Amino acid sequence: MFRIGPYFIDSKVILAPMAGVTDRPFRQLCRRLGAGLVVSEMVTSNTALWGSRKSSLRMDHTGEVEPIAVQIAGGDPMMMAEAAQLNVANGAQIIDINMGCPAKKVCKKVAGSALLKDEQLVADILHAVVSAVDVPVTLKFRTGWSTEERNALRIARIAEDAGISALALHGRTRACGFSGEVEYDTIAAVVESVSIPVFCNGDIDSAQKAKQVLDHTKAAAVMIGRAAQGRPWIFREIDHYLRTGQESPDTSLCEVRDILNSHLSELNRFYGEFMGPRIARKHASWYLQSVPNSELFRKKFNALETAQEQSDSLQSFFEQLIKKEERAA
Ligand SMILES: Cc1cc2nc3c(=O)[nH]c(=O)nc-3n(C[C@H](O)[C@H](O)[C@H](O)COP(=O)(O)O)c2cc1C
Repeated sequence: MFRIGPYFIDSKVILAPMAGVTDRPFRQLCRRLGAGLVVSEMVTSNTALWGSRKSSLRMDHTGEVEPIAVQIAGGDPMMMAEAAQLNVANGAQIIDINMGCPAKKVCKKVAGSALLKDEQLVADILHAVVSAVDVPVTLKFRTGWSTEERNALRIARIAEDAGISALALHGRTRACGFSGEVEYDTIAAVVESVSIPVFCNGDIDSAQKAKQVLDHTKAAAVMIGRAAQGRPWIFREIDHYLRTGQESPDTSLCEVRDILNSHLSELNRFYGEFMGPRIARKHASWYLQSVPNSELFRKKFNALETAQEQSDSLQSFFEQLIKKEERAA
């Protein structure tokens, strides 16, 4: 399908990095369900903060499928180079640089998408990181700082010249946040202007949309963020459609139950008995959004404290739904 340095990626559907979502259990699940590549939640380049439990969990890659891609965020070239080196020593096989995140916390420190305002600094960071490590370096960015200051084409050129191996482009400016139409035309223009793979990102939430966007932009892959929350089988659905032109049957309630159950038990194993069930709540809530008449159950589920209680209540909730579905059939 396409290459990132020495790594052959056998699917045109990849998972977008999302802080607070794409932790190791979620990445592993998405890979199992057809994502060709998954990228970790961003790790700050400020190594003084790495001692926190949050950072150390983000840097735990035990059992992950190759290639392990780690995203780093920061605004200082030397610190970014050092962070890249340390992450490679810790198992990263691809380093992804975040110039796409609009979060105030990140932008205030001149990192994430705020960097796009300063093209010289972009070039300095990219050169510093590429020359510091001998693994492929990729860049995730937006189409510019604001609609008046769109510079995706120039940033793409700077990146290719610096030796970046692939680009992920969210087709919005930083100022647009998550609203407004995605600029698939800008993504198409970037694809046209560089010879490295470009991943198209923004509002792709179905197999048909993925195909349409790939046909329009000629991107190497689609990158899926929010649509994968509570719907990790979207990778399998899109991959199947792109390969065969056939839509997959809907994921059955039995399978949703099994995927959710195994996801929650992995969260519990990864985060431990206190944090695990708390982090499980938001994921369960996303899964349940596509399950009809689940509002009351969601409220009840959010009050449960232990993984065992969560698993038992999900089991009986789904059992009732499945029985109802069988009776209606
Ligand atoms: C909760 C959340 C966290 C995110 N965290 C990151 C991040 O850590 N790094 C990054 O480059 N982008 C981050 N993003 C942006 C996504 O990677 C992606 O570009 C964006 O959601 C648009 O894609 P989508 O429409 O498929 O969701 C985040 C988005 C969300 C919703």
